[in-house]
Amino acid sequence: MKLWSGMLTGDLDKFAEEFNSSIKIDQRLIFDDINGSIAHVKMLKKTEILKADEADQIVNGLKSIYQKIMDGTLKVDLTSEDIHTFVEGALIEEIGEVGKKMHTARSRNDQVTTDLKLNLRDESIEISGLLKKYINSLCEKAKENTATIMPGYTHLQAAQPVTFAHHLMAYAMMGLRDLERLEDAKRRINESPLGACALAGTTYPIDREFTASELGFESVMQNSMDAVSDRDYILELQSVLSIIAIHLSRLSEELIIWSSQPYHFVKIDDKFSTGSSIMPQKKNPDMAELIRSKSARLIGNMNQSFVMMKGLPLAYSKDMQEDKEAIFSSIDTIKMTLEVMTGQISSLTANKEKMLKACKDGYLNATDVADYLVNKGVNFRDAHHISARLVKYGIDNDKSLDEIDLSVYKSESDLFEADIYQEIDIIKCVNERTSLGGPAKDEVIRQINFVLEKIEEKS
Ligand code: ARG
Repeated sequence: MKLWSGMLTGDLDKFAEEFNSSIKIDQRLIFDDINGSIAHVKMLKKTEILKADEADQIVNGLKSIYQKIMDGTLKVDLTSEDIHTFVEGALIEEIGEVGKKMHTARSRNDQVTTDLKLNLRDESIEISGLLKKYINSLCEKAKENTATIMPGYTHLQAAQPVTFAHHLMAYAMMGLRDLERLEDAKRRINESPLGACALAGTTYPIDREFTASELGFESVMQNSMDAVSDRDYILELQSVLSIIAIHLSRLSEELIIWSSQPYHFVKIDDKFSTGSSIMPQKKNPDMAELIRSKSARLIGNMNQSFVMMKGLPLAYSKDMQEDKEAIFSSIDTIKMTLEVMTGQISSLTANKEKMLKACKDGYLNATDVADYLVNKGVNFRDAHHISARLVKYGIDNDKSLDEIDLSVYKSESDLFEADIYQEIDIIKCVNERTSLGGPAKDEVIRQINFVLEKIEEKS
């Protein structure tokens, strides 16, 4: 019999019943549901809405169900309508009639969002931990590569030399912001909707502060209609997780490019590569490609949640039942993705020679040729043109800037002296970029320490 079957006659259509049921998705809220109910019933005891012995029987019954689910002696009945119905049914089975008093001064509308908030709070903490490990793997790899010179790109055209550490630390900074966004989203998850009841509160003398504090919520939501209608916290979490996924996708894209033949800048460990069933020479960056595509799933889930919410009137509508599948999918996907990316980064090898050679072949010190002249009084625009002509000469004659003869330099400007070769030394070019945020070795070491300290503060 349905919890709500009071005034309805007959059974639900077979397909409607299946269509309506959410238990296959929300069964993962079972422990949150039981914990939420225990807090609720303790409150009913404290406020004397229920007699002490009745409340105690219910709490003990709920604890016993918790235990039975844990040790496998009780299985979730997947023909139930949802997890709340299942737990209430199991409770009545366990302790009899008194179990029917549990739902006093509550509705599934405040119950479901309470359960979800408890669940997402734990998940956010877990994802923060995984994010920290990922950021840490970037910092550790950066430490090994503060002197690994590589081309920096704009428009995917070789631009100026940086270091591999500098490049990795750009992702670490994104990770740090992701961490902050996640913590911020968690603050709003951590407000209690419990006690809003169906939408209009209750005539019973409930104590919402008590249940909030029992469940570790930081505060109580102040409007009962808002409390049951709000799914901003899901939209926010979906957005935060999508941004994380996009950052991981961009890094994956770079790993795919860097590990491809013309580049060969990095070697992705065999643990994270696959072979081809036909081409023996192939080593494919499948994990990086999958991470790249998982971002589509996250963005899809986020989109679904936004579209689902956009026209809903207050307060609860059944549309909102669909929030869970999407957010659980995003959570499970991002957790796996972070784990795989962390392993992939930790086991990555930089091909230092290839990266350095690409800097030379790509004329990445052309800006430094111009700067040399600027230091001797030439205006930057003219210096830029002179440097461009030298690059063209290099391309035509298959020479890098440090291989071009001094006489050629002098033919462009008599301000060039033999010291031009030291000035355009790629390593020097990088290490002189000491401006805050730049690629110079000591500056990147400062960035690594900055990130590591921030992570430390957060744990
Ligand atoms: N399974 C429902 C959900 O996930 C629980 C809330 C049902 N409330 C209701 N008024 N039908 O949204």
